[in-house]
Amino acid sequence: MTKTLKTQVCIVGSGPSGLLLAQLLANAGVDSILLDRKNRSYIESRVRAGVLESGTVAALEEAGVASRLHAEGIPHEGFDLAFDGARHRIDLVGLTGKSVTVYGQTEVTKDLFDARYSAGQQFCFDVEEVVLHDLKSANPSVQFMMDGEKHNVCCDYVAGCDGYHGVSRSAIPAVVLRTFEREYPFGWLGILVDQPPVSDELIYANHEHGFALASMRSETRSRYYVQCDINDKVSDWPDERFWQEFALRLGPETAAKLQTGDSFEKSVAPLRSFVAEPMRYGNLFLAGDAAHIVPPTGAKGLNLAVADIRLLSRGLIEHYNAGKDDYLDNYSSSVLNRVWKVERFSWQLSKLMHQFPDNSPFEKRMQRAEFDYIASSEAASKTIAENYVGLPLE
Ligand code: APR
Ligand code: PHB
Repeated sequence: MTKTLKTQVCIVGSGPSGLLLAQLLANAGVDSILLDRKNRSYIESRVRAGVLESGTVAALEEAGVASRLHAEGIPHEGFDLAFDGARHRIDLVGLTGKSVTVYGQTEVTKDLFDARYSAGQQFCFDVEEVVLHDLKSANPSVQFMMDGEKHNVCCDYVAGCDGYHGVSRSAIPAVVLRTFEREYPFGWLGILVDQPPVSDELIYANHEHGFALASMRSETRSRYYVQCDINDKVSDWPDERFWQEFALRLGPETAAKLQTGDSFEKSVAPLRSFVAEPMRYGNLFLAGDAAHIVPPTGAKGLNLAVADIRLLSRGLIEHYNAGKDDYLDNYSSSVLNRVWKVERFSWQLSKLMHQFPDNSPFEKRMQRAEFDYIASSEAASKTIAENYVGLPLE
């Protein structure tokens, strides 16, 4: 027996993209069902980046989920680039008039879940065997198994918000889908530690031994990273090794202020650039990590996903509430135009700030010259600043 469910928009994936879409749609009276192959507690336990562009903050405000973000988020007016001991501050506010907000993505996810639960959102968790059907027709559907029972969601639209490893992207026929990918020859080892941040602002450092990033979650909780070998495991990085490398890469002046301690979370993440085109196929729309991945160097993953959802929600709301399809028709091209610019920035900053095993002495000098140029040029600093605070939506 198949259980049939009906909705306007079936959202596959209940990460930040899917949750925000459901929230914005619900605020405009559009009905959705959210399904995920995991459950709430699993989704909320994923540790991700924590820098929000002002446009992302605006979207969360518009969605009505920004009160805790305003209470607990930390506004940052600049950040530092460091290169073999030299330091340069990117004055975000001075160069662009805008700041960013440091607030963990895990917290954004929690706020969205709270809002959707209290509004009675229909969730389907721990689903398996998700298959998308009839995407080119006016009546697409999403089939899956839940609690041992077959389910079929009949809908007008499917939103593929199921991340890089989801099924939505692969529902687009291979003759239509084009993908573009770059893997980086190293990973990031990240830790969380309950110690005050070593600096009030973020520090991105390139050192002979590799990249390091000093970030934070609050005034008492720090998030630190070091570039590591692509094959490294968490067990290769006991805390003592981490602190030694991290201090070395940040340089003696900053290291003198570093308060170390036992980490309570440690993970290794690969770095990848990836884009799938188009982001629409019939009545399927891809958004967030399902369509694109950036290396974390510019903290763009969540921000890019939120920008997609702003445009997608606008298109769906215009369709239902004004009978207009212009935004939906333009979704893929307008979103991809911005996606590629953000991919460029994330790739450029990653190239500048890491040690690449294959870099020749010439390429190393090029990196250093680029850093020196940025440090000496307001125009070059402004280019970084305007990308970091977030490019306009259109
Ligand atoms: N069926 C249903 N759900 C699925 C499936 C599937 N076949 N495959 C994956 N999912 C779910 C995952 O369990 C996850 O909860 O889709 C969700 C995708 O969430 P994210 O990977 O977080 O992707 P997205 O919401 O686009 O995130 C955008 O937030 O999580 C970060 O790195 C991400 O920075 C990016 C941003
Ligand atoms: C983080 O706080 O986890 C973080 C911050 C900035 C980045 C990446 C990650 O560029």
